Amino acid sequence: MNTTTRLIGYAILAGSMAFLSGSAGAANAVPPDARRTNLVTIGMSQCNLGEPWRVQMNADLKAAAAAHPELKIVYKDAQNDTLRQRAHVEEFVGAGVNLIIISPKEAQPLTEPVAKAMAAGIPVIVLDRALLGDKYTCFIGADNKKIGKAAGQWIVKNLGGKGKLVELKGLMTSTPGQDRNAGFREGIAGSQIEVIFEADMKWLEPDARKEMESALARFDKIDLVYAHNDPGAHGAYLAAKAAGREKQMRFVGIDALPHEGVAYVAQGILSATFQYPTGGAEAIDAALKILNGEVVPKIVVLESRVFTKDNMSKGGDPTVLK
Ligand code: FRU
Repeated sequence: MNTTTRLIGYAILAGSMAFLSGSAGAANAVPPDARRTNLVTIGMSQCNLGEPWRVQMNADLKAAAAAHPELKIVYKDAQNDTLRQRAHVEEFVGAGVNLIIISPKEAQPLTEPVAKAMAAGIPVIVLDRALLGDKYTCFIGADNKKIGKAAGQWIVKNLGGKGKLVELKGLMTSTPGQDRNAGFREGIAGSQIEVIFEADMKWLEPDARKEMESALARFDKIDLVYAHNDPGAHGAYLAAKAAGREKQMRFVGIDALPHEGVAYVAQGILSATFQYPTGGAEAIDAALKILNGEVVPKIVVLESRVFTKDNMSKGGDPTVLK
């Protein structure tokens, strides 16, 4: 039994002892939380907190961890800086945390520090954006290729098989950007959909708006904008609106946060948004299992669904992603 397993084992034992003494009605029983608090430390490195989706991921982690006071989570924000995020991982290893959760900005530069953490005996859960190779304990995320393909097929269907498109891509050194692009191209293959303009907006709304201004300046006819996330789709919408052209085209995004993408659909700004769950709750679940010495799947694939004006009252439609 390693130290971590012992710690968690102790935490559970202490918890049930407190419960037993509580049920026996002992007036001076130590409150269970005091015995069980902060027994294991998880280091969480978030690539940035500038976007609502990442704020939601941390909130989901916190909500799931709230039921487990034996966990202490140290959150760090890399502020979209890969070097800072590499340093996070090294700091967590130096501090001897029991487990690391990372939502990496980019695949390649974060692969090595994570592999080193693993070599130092610290389990690592990779959330949402993947790394290269297999030197991590568990990856949790939705299937971005499948989401991109479903978005492509949805667009083909809703544009009647033809049209001129702008594709605003997520950071192409991150795996969701690569997969949402590759899947989308598969989805529109064989149709008369033509991508007339594509640019890397790096997941950022201001960049998307700027790129869309260039697209609008170059092309008189744009039927639809496919953006790899909802902030990107919204940035494109704002550019089109400023040019008085937002009614000439449709906008499709990915993420579907209730207070972001789904709200844009309700307001008629987006025609569709494909859900990308944060995986926060699943990461805590996997962390508890790993810390208890249980084997977890190497890859946990989260489900997605599409939200449109027609299906949003029913909570979206998962069938297009089956
Ligand atoms: C936030 C975000 C999301 C996107 C995810 C992909 O930083 O850009 O909008 O779905 O990252 O990793």
